[in-house]
Amino acid sequence: MTQGNYRWNKVAGTLFVFLSIFLLSNLEPGLALGPTSAQAQETPPGLESNPTDGSVPGSSRGTDSNGIIWEAIRNGAGGTASTRDPSGGRLIQAEGETWRLFRSGPLMKYSAWALLGIVALLALFYLLRGRIRIESGKSGNTVTRFKLIERVGHWTLAVSFIVLALTGLNVLYGRYVLLPILGPEAFGTISTWGKISHNYVGFAFMAGLIMIFVMWVLHNLPSKTDIGWLMRGGGLFVKHSHPPAKKFNAGQKLIFWAVILIGISLSLTGISLMFPFEIALFAKTFAFLNFFGFDLPTNLSAVQEMQFSQGWHAIQAVFLIVVVVAHIYIGSVGMEGAFDAMGTGEVDVNWAREHHSIWTEELENADKAGKQSGEAAGVPAE
Ligand code: HEM
Repeated sequence: MTQGNYRWNKVAGTLFVFLSIFLLSNLEPGLALGPTSAQAQETPPGLESNPTDGSVPGSSRGTDSNGIIWEAIRNGAGGTASTRDPSGGRLIQAEGETWRLFRSGPLMKYSAWALLGIVALLALFYLLRGRIRIESGKSGNTVTRFKLIERVGHWTLAVSFIVLALTGLNVLYGRYVLLPILGPEAFGTISTWGKISHNYVGFAFMAGLIMIFVMWVLHNLPSKTDIGWLMRGGGLFVKHSHPPAKKFNAGQKLIFWAVILIGISLSLTGISLMFPFEIALFAKTFAFLNFFGFDLPTNLSAVQEMQFSQGWHAIQAVFLIVVVVAHIYIGSVGMEGAFDAMGTGEVDVNWAREHHSIWTEELENADKAGKQSGEAAGVPAE
């Protein structure tokens, strides 16, 4: 090799090394190790990947994971579908997950607390106060408190409500409470029959609701005596305290209106659940509430309407069960002589005087007036 050739070879070698370093430093790390046959091919148009916007190679929409598109779909964006269901073109009904999380989370948790809480409170009340006695003792004379038709109305409502409450609670908690005890066969049978009875017994509940409303609404209108009764806690917490009351005291009036108003709302949401997608209750109710400053959604899909119906049905049902458990306590073990009112319809006169003094006085006055005019009336002479 000549001196000149040697120099040119050195220059060419140095240039080759620099060129290699330049090329390698500008290549993808993967390719730097040596391209595969696929990677070595030229990328067709539309298949370029871009790691910054989340898209992946491919030209169809299914391979595009663009966050903006997914957000829109999750928020309800949809296309068109050849089905009669107007929401058929919707890919994701994200509110369904919100509803599911609410149902298996706060609804179940707080309902369990409320139900166990009222039982604990009543047990505590019983321990501290004991049974509320007829303080002047039984007189042996009775007065008619509720006629047969009133008792039929009450028991139609009461029995149907208890069946609805138990079968409804089974839908909410059965799989956690009964399934492990009874096993899948028995639990399946009970739940199937429970669901069927829940649907049909609902109509008996509505009939009972109408009956007691018609018979008792006038006696449950608010009056001045209610304030005094409430101020004294109904005399429930102190012995020898009997605030005056008419046929129904303020506590009973509150129970009456809770049963009527929540009962109507439970019936409406129940019917909408029984005939899915036929009755939309919430969009219009929310639009009405928005007049009073609320900011509730009014453009609800048919599925959302069902989810609101279910959620609201359950919340109200649990609230009413809590109220009714307290009512059942005071109407049975909690107060001496109370059950007779709905049992035989006759209560002891001393019970009536202690708990419903104004009503008893009215009956006595009517009795006296009746005697003077030769008619028989409610309260027997002593
Ligand atoms: C075993 C269950 C029940 C018992 C022992 C019971 C007992 C009674 C009694 C004794 C009365 C008359 C109170 C009085 O004379 O002043 C009454 C009234 C009433 N009951 Fe019941 N009841 C039961 C279940 C229910 C249920 C489930 C409901 C509703 C869903 C209900 C709703 C009412 C209403 C609205 C009144 C009139 C207002 C009041 O007294 O609070 N009852 N109940």
